[in-house]
Amino acid sequence: MKFFVDTADTAEIADLAATGLLDGVTTNPSLIHKSGREFIPVVKEICGLVDGPVSAEVVALDHETMMKEADILRAVADNVAIKVPLTIDGLKTCKKLSDDGCQVNVTLCFSANQALLAAKAGAAFISPFVGRHDDNGLDGMRLIEDIRLIYDNYLFDTEILVASIRNPIHVLESARIGADVATMPPSVIRGLFKHVLTDKGIEGFMADWAKTGQTIT
Ligand code: E4P
Repeated sequence: MKFFVDTADTAEIADLAATGLLDGVTTNPSLIHKSGREFIPVVKEICGLVDGPVSAEVVALDHETMMKEADILRAVADNVAIKVPLTIDGLKTCKKLSDDGCQVNVTLCFSANQALLAAKAGAAFISPFVGRHDDNGLDGMRLIEDIRLIYDNYLFDTEILVASIRNPIHVLESARIGADVATMPPSVIRGLFKHVLTDKGIEGFMADWAKTGQTIT
């Protein structure tokens, strides 16, 4: 499963990219706002920090303007993936861009039928929002299971990019189901490394090693 980070904070992205475990980045208008940065320069900087796809979202709601915005965003770097909302105009844009060889991430997916539409529109990625699903009393991971089943039934290439992840259980379940990508806030990625018994084990080994008085040279 690929790991994307869901942030526009370039310091966080650079730090996580240094682990060698980061496969891409997703942003959205709220994350750009949170960064306090100008959209285009920050996307350009992010694209230089990772080799994989960097999702940059259009903000127009009509197809024509979405296409204009997508053209501007595509010109920023080769690894930009255009993010469009799951609407009729969004999918129209997705089809056009995909036919033109552009990677498209269809966002704000909340049903398996929507995911089916996005795959038919040639999306490179579908982003079902599991956390927001759970927040509304629905089962986000059940949605991922349904999409996996449907995509496998018809051999769609569209990658299931699990979004709106809130905790490590979402990541574990995504991997069990066979999702292609998990995009996570930096705190969730960092949390995956942690285990209390790992910390305790290191503490014990270090204490005993110090007692040997040895060094590795
Ligand atoms: C995905 O691409 C979105 O940017 C993101 O995962 C939304 O997550 P949220 O529900 O925490 O805002």
